Amino acid sequence: MSVSSTTTWTQAYTRYSLGAILLHWTIALAILFQLAVGLAMVHLDAMPDALRFALFQWHKTIGILVLCLTLARIAWRLVNPPPALAPITSRDERAASSLVHLGFYALMLIVPLSGWMLVSAAAAGIPTYLFLLESLEWPHLPVDALLPSVAPGQIEAGQIEDGLGFAHKWLALSFLGLLVLHLAGALKHSLVDAVPSFSRMLPHGGLARPQTRLVGIPIALAIIVAALGGGLLAGQADLATSSGSGVARPAAATPQGAAGDWIVDAAESRLDFAAQFSGKPLTGTVGAWQADVRFSPDALERAQATVTIDTASITVDNSFVAPQVQGKDGFDSDTHPTATLVLSQFRAADAGYAAEGTLTIKGKSLPVTVPFTFDENADGTAHVAAGSATVDRTAFDLGVSNDPTGQYLDKAVTIRFALVAAPAGSPSAER
Ligand code: HEM
Repeated sequence: MSVSSTTTWTQAYTRYSLGAILLHWTIALAILFQLAVGLAMVHLDAMPDALRFALFQWHKTIGILVLCLTLARIAWRLVNPPPALAPITSRDERAASSLVHLGFYALMLIVPLSGWMLVSAAAAGIPTYLFLLESLEWPHLPVDALLPSVAPGQIEAGQIEDGLGFAHKWLALSFLGLLVLHLAGALKHSLVDAVPSFSRMLPHGGLARPQTRLVGIPIALAIIVAALGGGLLAGQADLATSSGSGVARPAAATPQGAAGDWIVDAAESRLDFAAQFSGKPLTGTVGAWQADVRFSPDALERAQATVTIDTASITVDNSFVAPQVQGKDGFDSDTHPTATLVLSQFRAADAGYAAEGTLTIKGKSLPVTVPFTFDENADGTAHVAAGSATVDRTAFDLGVSNDPTGQYLDKAVTIRFALVAAPAGSPSAER
């Protein structure tokens, strides 16, 4: 391409308006942040619960901002239309470019909306506090009320949540596909057609900027303020109705769960086991364990709990048994470093509740029923799930070489627990 024709192309171009440029890059960065944080918070198992909880709240905050900024971006675009496409582009290229842009706008609205619907439908009922500030509660959408009217009696709450999670994930990942096409188009214009492309979206450079219709500024700002302010006011109204005082919902009032919804305070909790050795009580202590608990008395069908025990951390207070605990006839922690308890079928029972599931020790998995109580603690900042279950140690190959009949060490071993937990959305869990 000759210099003069480049000059002609360049002169035929204007860049985007400053408002469009600012909104474009802010939203683009926010979406990249959302993708990275969204994937990390869902898939990085090693992440501490407290950090995961904070990331969820930031993810929701930035996602809501993307929604508001997108509405402002659309208004801005209506008032300040984008500069014309390169005159050299073919009709097909123009159509492809328009489709990609349309796809971006659709995703910029649908992805945050699907995330918002997801948290609104979640049994957890964890509130969304923008910027982690309890005073900035963002409301939940009435998803439960809307969907049954679309398909009465056909969809269960859990299916709605799962479906929305699936949709949110794949719609969000579609951003990556569009991004590839978007960058490919921009690179093609820059490198193959040798016409300005990236520079049209940069605030500095040789390209002329079109006259901005300044009325776009108050309109875009009004949309952001109305969308954010309206949501926050609705959040306050929700809060006032639910608590009757306008004060943040107490954690104890919403003991609802979803994965990670209860943050179990291991330091305050107790997990041990008891047996009899030669007629005297023996206590075993579990030093390291982790519990993931989803539980709500109102949604027992969705409750589940997984307790993972580091077998090397198990000790007993009996000097006869202690040397065997980690050995082959004990928990054999070298070969079986973890034992797990997975509970999934919860029901109301005489004493409170009972859960059924599977206990796996030394690779042997057996069914177990765990009755437990679930009460608020004295100062109302947490709940305590306390219970016990008795198992036959020999069924798990524990002590079968040394004492298969229970002559010294009883075969019946009672696992006891008192888990102190706060709902993930509560201030006490955030600490
Ligand atoms: C542009 C905006 C957004 C993007 C790009 C985005 C992206 C993502 C991604 C990539 C994931 C991981 C999905 C997975 O691997 O399972 C995710 C998860 C999640 N997002 Fe978003 N998100 C956005 C907005 C929102 C909003 C506004 C909310 C709520 C107000 C939200 C709530 C959630 C939740 C609760 C999850 C976890 C889902 C699960 O546990 O399976 N997101 N998001």
